[in-house]
Amino acid sequence: MADPDRPFLACVIGWPVMHSLSPLMHSHWMEQQGIKGGYVPILVRPGTLEPALRALHPLGFAGCNLTIPHKLDAMEIVDEVDDVARRIGAISCIVVREDGALFGTNNDWLGFLGNLKQSVPGWRGDAGPAVVIGAGGGARAVCHGLLREGVPEIRLVNRTAAKAEKVAADLGGSIRVLPWKDRHIALEGAALAVNTTSLGMVGQPPLDLKLDCLHGEAVAADIVYTPLETAFLQAARARGNPIVDGLGMLMHQGPAAWRRWLGVEPLVTDDLRRALEDRL
Ligand code: ATR
Repeated sequence: MADPDRPFLACVIGWPVMHSLSPLMHSHWMEQQGIKGGYVPILVRPGTLEPALRALHPLGFAGCNLTIPHKLDAMEIVDEVDDVARRIGAISCIVVREDGALFGTNNDWLGFLGNLKQSVPGWRGDAGPAVVIGAGGGARAVCHGLLREGVPEIRLVNRTAAKAEKVAADLGGSIRVLPWKDRHIALEGAALAVNTTSLGMVGQPPLDLKLDCLHGEAVAADIVYTPLETAFLQAARARGNPIVDGLGMLMHQGPAAWRRWLGVEPLVTDDLRRALEDRL
């Protein structure tokens, strides 16, 4: 539990980072819970993560979140990594212990699942195969979450097949790698399709995915949240498929970080969502 006499300090470390909605989200919760302190963005150059992380303890930080491009590099720097982060191969959240030791974990998979379950209350892992597009850190977290939920098969599609093969080998379970050119037909019979690539993000080309084979009730999910509704999600919505946007994933990984840092879990509310949407 937080010490009321000590301000709570945390940050998000990335490059770029000033666009991050995390400071707004955590500040919203701090105000709501009457917790003094601050949550700030910190711009840390690629290759300079270690001195930045080592400065957290002397500067009084209780923890941090990591974003692009630091999630993988942090694995080699922190003093302790939990099983989930090791399995996913990336760290999204660090706890700074009293003695300065750094503990790394990954909450992205919780964010993805929490968002999916809240957005589509009837969703069940055993409803059918899932198609996951991409093979980066986001894909690894999503695949981990889906396997935990008992998804019978993950069809993993990535431009660079070798990266997808590595994800399948590392995560085990029923992950089947399909060639990038087959991504459209991979949707046949799937209950869920998830974009974990940066395609569709502002400034990036859209995800080229034809939805003709997507079952009418299949869920379309994206981890991109700028824009809130990517072209992929717009196309799925136009066909009548349930859609799940990436903003919810950001919101739903926050409470797990708070549990680690403060021993309490803030709520993901419509108010919070509106506050974040206003900033987009
Ligand atoms: P993160 O860790 O945030 O998931 P990443 O490791 O950079 O980010 O992964 C980005 C994903 O987007 C990868 O799957 C990447 O495909 P490659 O492995 O082939 O690089 C995918 N991606 C990015 N730009 C792409 C593009 N123009 N076409 C297809 N896939 C793309």
